[in-house]
Parts: sequence; C-alpha cells; structure tokens
Amino acid sequence: ASTLGAQAAQSGRYFGAAVAAGRLGDSTYSTILDREFNMVTPENEMKWDTTERSRGSFNFGPADQIANRALSRGQRVRGHTLVWHSQLPGWVSSIGDANTLRSVMNNHITTQMAHYKGKVYAWDVVNEAFADGGSGQHRPSVFQNLLGDGFIEQAFRTARSADPAAKLCYNDYNIENWTDAKTQGVYRMVRDFKSRGVPIDCVGFQAHFGTGGPPASFQTTLSSFAALGVDVQITELDIAQAPTNAYANTVKACMNVPRCTGITVWGIRDTDSWRAGDKPLLFDGSGNKKAAYNATLTALGGT
Ligand code: G3I
Repeated sequence: ASTLGAQAAQSGRYFGAAVAAGRLGDSTYSTILDREFNMVTPENEMKWDTTERSRGSFNFGPADQIANRALSRGQRVRGHTLVWHSQLPGWVSSIGDANTLRSVMNNHITTQMAHYKGKVYAWDVVNEAFADGGSGQHRPSVFQNLLGDGFIEQAFRTARSADPAAKLCYNDYNIENWTDAKTQGVYRMVRDFKSRGVPIDCVGFQAHFGTGGPPASFQTTLSSFAALGVDVQITELDIAQAPTNAYANTVKACMNVPRCTGITVWGIRDTDSWRAGDKPLLFDGSGNKKAAYNATLTALGGT
C-alpha cells in the first residue's frame, strides 16, 4: 500500500497521529491527516483542563470536533487522557481530602467515557503515574498523595464500568528500555493487575526518542509486556532529527510483536510538533514526506 494507515492495516495494525483541533482548518494538514492516518489522538483536547475546567462543568466541544470528524471518515480515536497529574486544573490539585478527590476522579472518568461511549477505541486511563529515576514507584501527585497507590486500580475499575467495550490503557514515557527501574515498576503493576483481575487491556509506550531512536531492548520490552496478556501500542512517537534507521527500528520492534497493535506519531508536520526544534516527525513544515516517512512505510512492510 502507498500510505501509512493502509500499509499498517495489512497486518491488522493502525497508524495514527496526534491531532490539534486548531489545525484542522489548515488544508495541507488535513489532507495529510486523511490520506495517511486511520487512528487519531486529540493532542490536548481530552485533557482535564479542557474537559472539566471547573467542577462538574464539562466541555467536550474541541474534542468532539476532532472525534466526530475522524469517525465520519472511518478513522478511529484514542482517548488521551483521563487521569494525569499535568494539565490538571487548579481546583483538582487543591482538593484536600481523599473522599472528595475519589468522587471527583470517578465522576470525571465516568462522565467523559459516557460521552464518548462507542466512539473511542482505547483510553489512556492513567498517564505518566510512575516516577523518573531509579525508584520504580509512583510519582507524587494529588491522586497519589491523597488516595495512595490504589488510585490507579480505582481509575481502571471505574473506567471498565463506564464503557465495558473500550480498551483501557496505561500510558507512560521512558518505559521503553527493559532494564530501567521505571519500566520494571510499570511491568510489576501490570502483572499484579492481571493476576488480581484488575481490568487493563493495553500499555502505551510514548516513544519520545532522541536521535539514537529506541533502546536495543525495545522489542524485548514490548514482547515482555504482551506476554502478560495486554496489547502494546506506540502512542506518541517522535524522534529528534527523524533519522531513517531510528524510525525503521521503532516500527520493526512493533511489527515483530504480534500484540503490538498500532503506532501513533505525536503530530503530523515538524512544525506541528511540541518539540518542533528537533524536527522529529515524518513530514516537513511544508507537508512534504521526509526520508523517515519512506523508511517507516518500508518497515511497515510496504514499498
Ligand atoms: O491553548 C493555549 C493557548 O490559548 C495559549 O495562548 C498558549 C500560550 O502558551 O498555550 C496554549 O496551550 C498550550 C497547549 O499545549 C496547546 O497548544 C500549553 O501552553 C502547552 O503546555 C500545551 O503543551 C502540550 C503538552 O502536552 C502539555 O503538557 C503539548 O501540545 C502536547 O503535545 C503535550 O503532549 C504530551 C502528552 O499529552 C503526554 N506525553 C508527553 C507529551 C509531550 O509533552
């Protein structure tokens, strides 16, 4: 096939992009989006500071714009994200007691997932809950500090009740290298969830890489998590300077793991990227395919 989405589909996978509502009116952007991608992740529009800026008052306008547009074109949607310490409105971070926070968190998950029931293929239920560095433990956050380690399990259980058909993912960065303490911490959590029947269906590896691309152990990491009985996905891929071999190695790691079900790049053109200075994406600022695009298509099994 001659596009990323169609080529990925030949092996039952998807190829997606993070999309910003504010760019949809740019025809260069939307033309590439609709030609190349069959999965869409709203880059910021489903985050708490947009969807529930004040308690109990929900705004799904910007996210609906992206989701409805995608669904009408046969693209699927990944929901990003329900519980995250960042882009969290001040009224949530300043909650002082566990009972209030628990009910606020559950209501946020339930209301947002109910709105998108049947429309979102997979949710990043909890994002970036593990600490950087060597601890292998959760990072401090209002959720961790008030609810303790159990907040992640609570979020996944609430999510399953809200939309039993949606896939429920844990998503994080710097968990691609198998021997890192952070990777092992997340691995132990998923193993524990699977052994106790806590609902979890997938793990998202953000894959924000430097010029070297993925660590040599990336495929081992993907297959080790998959062996626990979850799907694995590359959810926010971008690579500084977009070297062809770095993109090819990333895609091949996924292609070699049957339960690696899809890849999402974190933006379309370099100029759309949160790290635009690194020129980390597959299209240049004018919308031309870069060498990394061809390497990616080839690695997906295309030409
Ligand atoms: O919308 C406002 C705009 O009104 C204002 O004028 C402008 C001035 O700064 O800010 C705009 O908001 C920005 C928003 O992106 C939309 O462009 C925020 O400041 C900015 O912080 C925000 O950055 C996003 C970042 O998450 C926030 O943490 C990036 O676009 C987004 O790509 C990035 O994505 C994250 C994933 O969600 C989780 N994993 C890491 C990844 C990269 O940081």
